[in-house]
Amino acid sequence: MKFRTRLLVAFGVVVMVPLLVFGLGIRRAMSGRVSAEYQGRVDALVAVIGADLAREQERIGARLNAVKRNMAADNRLRAAIVRGDDRGYILDYAGDAMPLAGLDFLQIQDAERRVVSSGHFRNEFDRTGAFASPGGVTVVRAAAAEGPFLVLARPDTVHIAGQAFNLVGGVAVDSGYLARLAPDPEFRLAIHVPSDSVVASSSDSAATEVARIPLPYVDAVDEPNRIGLANIVVTHNSSLLATLLHTINLWFAVAVLTAALAALLLAGWLSTRISEPVEAGFRDMERRIAIGELARQVNHDVKNGLAPLRNVFRHLIQVARDKPAELPQVFAERQGTVESSISYLETLAANYAKLSPQSERKATDVNAVVRETIGGSSSVRAKLADGLPPVSADALVLRRVIENLVSNAVDSLDGKTGTVTVSTERAKGTVRVAVSDTGRGMSKAELDRAFDDFYTTKPGGTGLGLSIVRRLVLDSSGTLKVETEPGKGSKFIVEIPILS
Ligand SMILES: Nc1ncnc2c1ncn2[C@@H]1O[C@H](COP(=O)(O)OP(=O)(O)OP(=O)(O)O)[C@@H](O)[C@H]1O
Ligand SMILES: [Mg+2]
Repeated sequence: MKFRTRLLVAFGVVVMVPLLVFGLGIRRAMSGRVSAEYQGRVDALVAVIGADLAREQERIGARLNAVKRNMAADNRLRAAIVRGDDRGYILDYAGDAMPLAGLDFLQIQDAERRVVSSGHFRNEFDRTGAFASPGGVTVVRAAAAEGPFLVLARPDTVHIAGQAFNLVGGVAVDSGYLARLAPDPEFRLAIHVPSDSVVASSSDSAATEVARIPLPYVDAVDEPNRIGLANIVVTHNSSLLATLLHTINLWFAVAVLTAALAALLLAGWLSTRISEPVEAGFRDMERRIAIGELARQVNHDVKNGLAPLRNVFRHLIQVARDKPAELPQVFAERQGTVESSISYLETLAANYAKLSPQSERKATDVNAVVRETIGGSSSVRAKLADGLPPVSADALVLRRVIENLVSNAVDSLDGKTGTVTVSTERAKGTVRVAVSDTGRGMSKAELDRAFDDFYTTKPGGTGLGLSIVRRLVLDSSGTLKVETEPGKGSKFIVEIPILS
């Protein structure tokens, strides 16, 4: 991974992680508050429904009381019970008493819960009657001529002529009743019972369930002995909460994305600002290390070559001082060592010399070299003067000079449109080659350093191009001039002597 990329990632992490944590925290807090407020409304509604049911239970109780009082005061009923005749009067009793007491359901049962008189049907006599839990209201599925319907019912007992009778009375629950139970228009109520045959509901659209209130349930039509469970289900139609949470999430995403984008741009800019000098420093260090290696190698090789020479020389001095007469003989003996060391050093010099290119001056056609150099490149224009005399230079050297200047000129355009032109013309005793560009140009300070070894402003540049150019031009007895202006472009002018 490049240094710049690493910086970018590091910036990203340092900025993005706290940002995300912060954002998520705010989002959680907001969602939590909205949900809590909403839950508060749901709880309040459930409490209101609970209180309403309790009041309903009392109301039913009061109506059953009225029925009880009337039964106790009714002598014909008492006589019919005691004597066991006048059965028609008993069978019709509940049907007559029910509307008068303001009830929608009424059964008079004996101690074994057998129906003695039913508010809706005469022929229910002797069937097992509905059960209603004494603790509160019970949802009862009752039968009427029009079909089954749901009632909220409660039980009571009455004693007539020493006989105990159960009373079960109730009021019908329909969608209108449920709508009155939920005063908050955003909520809807429905009663769900185990058999789905009768479901009263104050709304017909399916919606999110937010609460349920359980009540005992008895199906007095089909299973009067079984106590099940019915539920008053609270639903929310407009799904305000979901909309609110959705909006919060949306704005959260927008905020995080915007911040992330800003952070990324900032990180990109900062990492470039920081990485450029640091990377330049790295490159410089690498170059110095490479040169250091080379210097050590040269030092080592030269020392190796010199050591035998120094030994021979010391030996000869010693012999000359102590036994001058033996000097010629010793010299002859050691001559071989001296010669081999010298030839080793010569080979070494020759090998190192190969590291810098050799040049061989001869008649060279400048235009031909320029054409060869720029080849078919469409980005570089050539303006070549006709009939130029040959110059005294190595074609390869000249090519390296032009190549370096042209590549710098192309680089100076920084990828923008602009032109690079190589022109040739005859001057006084020389042929002039000019490489000009409409690129970024150089300030005085940049120009002062441009020819320094290793000075570069380019990622991956060696900074050796111009210093090699200068050395090669001077080696060819030529001259080099630069005209440059920041933002306008540069012109490098090389003059090479004509072959005389
Ligand atoms: N034509 C030019 N226009 C603007 N700046 C230039 C031009 N030529 C050279 N320079 C500046 O001088 C610096 C040194 O140039 P030089 O050719 O010696 O090295 P380099 O081009 O950076 O590296 P390399 O030769 O390895 O590509 C360049 O990095 C650039 O800043
Ligand atoms: Mg260069």
